[in-house]
Amino acid sequence: MRDKLVEKLIKGEEKRQREGLELIPSENYVSEDVLKANGSVFTNKYSEGYPGRRYYGGQEFTDQVERLAIERACKLFKCKFANVQPHAGAPANVATYFALMEPGDTIMGMDLSHGGHLTHGHPVTYISKIFRFIRYKMKNIETGEIDYDEMLRVAMAEKPKIIMAGFSAYTRELDYAKFSEIAKKVGALAIADMAHIAGLIAGKAVKNPFDYGFDVILTTTHKTLRGPRGGLILTRDSEEIAKKIDKSVFPGFQGGPIMNTIAAKAICFGEALTPAFKKYAEQIIKNSRSMAKVFLNNKIRLIGGGTDNHCVLADIFGSLGVTGKEGQTVLDEVGITLNMNMIADDPRKPMDPSGIRFGTPAITTRGFREKECKRVAELMILTLKNKDNKKVKDSVHKEIKALAKKFPIPKKFV
Ligand SMILES: Cc1ncc(COP(=O)(O)O)c(C=O)c1O
Repeated sequence: MRDKLVEKLIKGEEKRQREGLELIPSENYVSEDVLKANGSVFTNKYSEGYPGRRYYGGQEFTDQVERLAIERACKLFKCKFANVQPHAGAPANVATYFALMEPGDTIMGMDLSHGGHLTHGHPVTYISKIFRFIRYKMKNIETGEIDYDEMLRVAMAEKPKIIMAGFSAYTRELDYAKFSEIAKKVGALAIADMAHIAGLIAGKAVKNPFDYGFDVILTTTHKTLRGPRGGLILTRDSEEIAKKIDKSVFPGFQGGPIMNTIAAKAICFGEALTPAFKKYAEQIIKNSRSMAKVFLNNKIRLIGGGTDNHCVLADIFGSLGVTGKEGQTVLDEVGITLNMNMIADDPRKPMDPSGIRFGTPAITTRGFREKECKRVAELMILTLKNKDNKKVKDSVHKEIKALAKKFPIPKKFV
């Protein structure tokens, strides 16, 4: 690289990823093929429009690669229509809201403090000024059970146009049949934002909302799906809905698609269609359950009482007197990256909440199994309990580095 300054920063990030353990549940390591496609000459190309209907010439290969990505996405998630152009998860969500609602219409989504995402209607977002958001919550924080009765009651009264199932910090499986039933009763569309668990759905390790009558699925292509950073909108079978979504993504909301990322998405979907990916998805859950078990054995409260997916949410302030921010910082010092997180009905503030959120997609990509995950969880707890003890922290850091060395980041998976 001729720009030595940027090259140095890239090398630094490579080293950080190589030597530390990545436990942020929304992060992963992509294959060399995904990286190559993302850095390919498709970067140079403008392709506003859709395959066969572009506003620029020279689309022989872009049309083919976008069609391939669409075809693979539909096969992977069992649906008829896919829009592979959203630049990321948030634009996919916003474009879908504009496609299927009018300003002032109502969406029902999971409360942010109970696991929902900012794009499901937090007041700091612009969309909350345009659409009306109402919320549902857990009935029981200790088991993660959603309050479906209350959801039905509120939905009957407020008549939302969309009922959104999906989350960024929730550890149990949603009852999609109940969501669908409630949506039908009130005349709403059932939409799932599966950004976090798309890889688990693709690998059939958890349920697919389309099997329970969902109309649309929104997702990112990074996280558990292990592709490039990007968004994806899937429509089960309604051509009318798919057409509205296409129009909303372009020209409604975005300009030209990022073709290099679409090529990388096509590779990611191809990888996710293999038997090896199915095993990977299953192992992610086995690994997060083995970590959750260590926390529970150490009497550390977990929101939802455990996990059915890639993610664990621990109330470390309530259980150990260590704040989320302190936990995040001290674990960073020993080479474990994760994030502080609000817990349901958190008495503390978002910038220093009670919880930490961690997950296993990235370490599972490295080849970790239950045994290594159990050890990582033990080391996390040891560090949290000895956050001011340099000797303990140095020794943990040494062991984490050794584990990272023993399990190098792979370049290919199939
Ligand atoms: C459920 C959910 N939806 C949407 C997004 C937004 O995705 P992006 O950061 O790619 O815009 C996220 C990101 O974490 C998410 O968890």
